[in-house]
Amino acid sequence: SKAVTVTSLLSMRAAGDKISMLTCYDASFAALMDRCGVDVMLVGDSLGMVCQGHTSTLPVTLDDIAYHVACVARGNQTAFLVADMPFGTYATREEAYRNAVRLMQAGAQMVKLEGGEWLADTVRFLTERAVPVCAHVGLTPQSVHQFGGFKVQGKSVEAADRLKADALALQAAGASLIVLEAIPSALGKETTDLLAIPTIGIGAGPDCSGQVLVMHDMLGVFPGRKARFVRNFMDGQASIEGAVRAYIAAVKDKSFPAAEHCF
Ligand code: KIV
Ligand code: NA
Repeated sequence: SKAVTVTSLLSMRAAGDKISMLTCYDASFAALMDRCGVDVMLVGDSLGMVCQGHTSTLPVTLDDIAYHVACVARGNQTAFLVADMPFGTYATREEAYRNAVRLMQAGAQMVKLEGGEWLADTVRFLTERAVPVCAHVGLTPQSVHQFGGFKVQGKSVEAADRLKADALALQAAGASLIVLEAIPSALGKETTDLLAIPTIGIGAGPDCSGQVLVMHDMLGVFPGRKARFVRNFMDGQASIEGAVRAYIAAVKDKSFPAAEHCF
């Protein structure tokens, strides 16, 4: 099939076709997900938790992400490949650019950064220099110690207004995708309706332009407590490939996320 691009993702959003995204960390799973037709693969810094066994994403380094991006790129042919910028690698726009170049040269087609309006200047700096950007707002896991835990965000009127203003500023700065994590479904819909770029939800309700899950979570192999937004797609499936196909189908036909996965 035809390679997924930033342009085709925008067309999908405009047409109302849901975007399926999964995290991926190695070549074998990349080849499997590619066969199944996943639209976007994310080399997430969640690898610090699911691959390395840390209790947060903070210990993950740029070298770690670059290594896993190169592995995934070798297995992937069609999906759009996004790489997370780790904690502490985008404090200034120059540092962000230097580090993003490393991930792009490892095979990423876009980098993802956590944060709101304060990042707009960095997003503009990157996108002006041909580094496409996915923004990430709401429950941004690199801020776990700032938040005092992995907590649902955007619950008050003020916080919801802040998040919408952040999303608009990031889009205006050139972001071409935005992840919304762990926010009320109504806010997921309002934010999606405000924007022209696709929103990818994880615990952000059924009205986002697409959905993302951590691979280990949707295969039921992560030993930690299951977050509300996770569904184990191995249930009723005889193979991992079946589970990945079931996830993609459920995103496309809008049966995932259901009310039980939402805030
Ligand atoms: O690191 C990650 O896996 C992520 C997704 C959950 C969006 O950032
Ligand atoms: Na991440």
